[in-house]
Amino acid sequence: MRGIVLAGGTGSRMWPATLAISKQLIPVYDRPMIYYSICMHLMSGIRDILIISTPQDTPRFQQLLGDGSRWGISFSYAVQPEPQGVAEAFVIGSEFVGNHSSSLALGDNIFYGRGLRSLLQKASALDKGAKVLACPVDNPGQYGVVVLDKDGVVREIEEKPDIPRSDYAIPGLYFYDSTVCEKARSINCSSRGEWEITALNRIYLDEGRLSVEILEDNVAWVDAGTPEALLDASRLVERIDRHSGAKLCCPEEICWELGYIDSMQLETLAGQLRKSRYGRYLLALLHDTCAET
Ligand code: G1P
Repeated sequence: MRGIVLAGGTGSRMWPATLAISKQLIPVYDRPMIYYSICMHLMSGIRDILIISTPQDTPRFQQLLGDGSRWGISFSYAVQPEPQGVAEAFVIGSEFVGNHSSSLALGDNIFYGRGLRSLLQKASALDKGAKVLACPVDNPGQYGVVVLDKDGVVREIEEKPDIPRSDYAIPGLYFYDSTVCEKARSINCSSRGEWEITALNRIYLDEGRLSVEILEDNVAWVDAGTPEALLDASRLVERIDRHSGAKLCCPEEICWELGYIDSMQLETLAGQLRKSRYGRYLLALLHDTCAET
């Protein structure tokens, strides 16, 4: 499976903070927001990741992440010249996706919880059709909304409906089979001029191939796209990091756990960051391992 992180957009809900920098480069607590979406792909077992961003921000993501070899993975980059919708990721990324199945993560969505890894591993085993997540929220009209029947089968999906027919929002993490790019190309732009991800999902729904995974109490979702949500997310991550003693989404740690990098490589990465608490956390991982053996 291939992974895409869409980290474009104008970040207008956060202006002026995002006038000169991408929202997804701003920290959520002590690491850039995009780390959280990257970790969704890593936890799904994906090592080939395409970052799509604006012309001005793409070089900054390259500066932050490089080609991925430091983490034992691969990052590629592509530009979305204008914010023309989420589904455009599969038009821009069609060469990268090729005939693989793929997962798309929006760069401002954060997921956490005990059940997350197993949910991701299950979803990334998808071979045919598409899978979206569903999460009950107080403000469904601000999101893609999914209507389910009593057996949990998807009946309808709508993008930001004025009168939502369900409380279930569709978060920004999607899983598709290898036909997704071809389907994305066939979408017409919506009235707001965007290639809507909901239009893409509706094609799968019409084919009877859209499944949904409802987020239970053991997996939570935060859309960190507003100043208030960002502050809440930072507080939450800080609390989780502090209380559990383990970092929520730490790509270096995940890559090391998965054996993509060895302890010497982790030590080098940690050494480069040692002046920060984050770097010292990475160093402590190695020392804890030494202490255990
Ligand atoms: C996008 C999608 C929407 C989805 C949301 C998740 O909305 O269009 O269906 O529910 O992401 O964050 P946007 O954030 O682009 O308004």
